[in-house]
Amino acid sequence: MKITYYGHACLLVETMGKRLLFDPFITPNELAAKVDLDSIQADYILLTHAHSDHLADAESIGQRCGSTIISNYEVAAHYGSKGLAYHPLNHGGKAKFDFGTAKYVNAVHSSSFPDGSYGGNPGGFVIWNEEGTFYHAGDTALTMDMQLIPMTCPALDFAILPIGDNFTMGYEDAVIAADFVKARKVIGMHYDTFGYIKIDHAAAKKAFADSGKELILLSIGESIVL
Ligand code: NI
Ligand code: MN
Repeated sequence: MKITYYGHACLLVETMGKRLLFDPFITPNELAAKVDLDSIQADYILLTHAHSDHLADAESIGQRCGSTIISNYEVAAHYGSKGLAYHPLNHGGKAKFDFGTAKYVNAVHSSSFPDGSYGGNPGGFVIWNEEGTFYHAGDTALTMDMQLIPMTCPALDFAILPIGDNFTMGYEDAVIAADFVKARKVIGMHYDTFGYIKIDHAAAKKAFADSGKELILLSIGESIVL
């Protein structure tokens, strides 16, 4: 699987010949100013919840690429009403797609649209196929529910976890989350974008290393294969 980081919680995962874009928040993100939005192609756009820092560019990319939106029922239906293809999920539910299986799992957070309307309940995704398995946690606190993931999904090859604190768990709790989901490789997200969530990269990496795990902090625009 090839993973490209576009800042904040936005990552593109290329797998099984498909492009899965998570939580596009690029145009409003000053740190992602160098990203060429029009160069991003997405077969699917997966949205963890309705906050603007997770869906700012979803509609424009979705319209340009003809992407299918995968999210909770309320968020998915919102994009359906704008003419986009969509697949609604809700917590604990999984579905098969041409890229593999996607399961919508619990997150402890909130989820309202920028206008204040109801955005369903926030979640994360576990994705698996013949190439591997990974978890994008969305915005969440550390929660005991994470222990259900290794009980109900194939073993993770990596997890994408929020580490910025303030609005989500910080890196100290994310180390425990990695234990709960049994992931030794973690890609950090949801840090540095705003003043509230700026973190000490070296301290975060050390916290993971001290626990026998690897924290990968990608530069915006950087890709890796896992
Ligand atoms: Ni949020
Ligand atoms: Mn957020």
